Amino acid sequence: MGHTVPAGMKMDRKETEVYLRLDRARLPQHIAIIMDGNGRWARRRHMPRVAGHRAGVAAVRSTVETAARIGIPALTLYAFSEENWKKRPKTEVDFLMRLLCRYLREELKTLNDNNIRLNYIGRQRELPPSVQCEMEEASCATSKNTGMLLTLALNYSARSEIVDAFRALAEAAARNGGLDHMTVDEQAISEHLYTRGLPDPDLVIRTSGEMRLSNFLLWQLAYSEIYVTQTLWPDFRGVQLLEGIEEYQKRDRRYGGLGPDGHGSDRHAADGHSHDGHASERQPARLNTGPHA
Ligand code: FPP
Repeated sequence: MGHTVPAGMKMDRKETEVYLRLDRARLPQHIAIIMDGNGRWARRRHMPRVAGHRAGVAAVRSTVETAARIGIPALTLYAFSEENWKKRPKTEVDFLMRLLCRYLREELKTLNDNNIRLNYIGRQRELPPSVQCEMEEASCATSKNTGMLLTLALNYSARSEIVDAFRALAEAAARNGGLDHMTVDEQAISEHLYTRGLPDPDLVIRTSGEMRLSNFLLWQLAYSEIYVTQTLWPDFRGVQLLEGIEEYQKRDRRYGGLGPDGHGSDRHAADGHSHDGHASERQPARLNTGPHA
């Protein structure tokens, strides 16, 4: 592709090989990652589950730095779901809270050095006040950065997000002349989601081999390419991110239309699972750099 490794970026031989195979003009504008497999990583080593979470921080660091340095405009990480809070033992939840606060304090310099702006999605107000304070401080400290937007999904549920969007729409209608004056279309709904201003993810990556979306960005992932790797999250690094992007660049994205030859791709035809024929004519959006909740 005739490009070189970004300045200041240390890459080993494998990373360099994958990076040089990428088409720099077709990088995903937004990558979303379901980080999974921390518990299994720990179990395989006869360690407590929380050791997997602790090891997962190194994976977060490497992935975030690589994404920023190669010029990905937006990265969203599914850190903790609403269900995680409700269904996991309090000791594990407390550990995750402490880990998050530590991450926010210790990674600030790296985030700023890489010009990364930090943002959150999820029901933030249900988190402990001390955690909310740390989150607020970290996002303020990066708010002037102009590079990659890093969004952490914390206490996040896509269904709750859609519920909150409908509530916000109804409240806005009540303030503006009632339901008769309310427009309900895709744009109105998108603008009331936590992700307003962000383009929908082009690529969603899930680690540890599970084939589920687990209540993550259900609206926004409608046309995303899905890449599932067997790698457990604590073993994930920049090179695995680059491999995911390489796989993404091999995909034929049609948004419900036809390929350049006037047909669907053989890959879809062969498995009889081309379900996007009825889709509306959606086009990939670009990152709107304005602030969003
Ligand atoms: C899923 O693995 C992972 C989580 C619920 C927590 C994710 C947390 C981190 C990656 C570390 C901290 C993150 C930040 C942003 C500081 P699991 O426990 O469900 O794994 P299992 O399916 O193997 O049990």
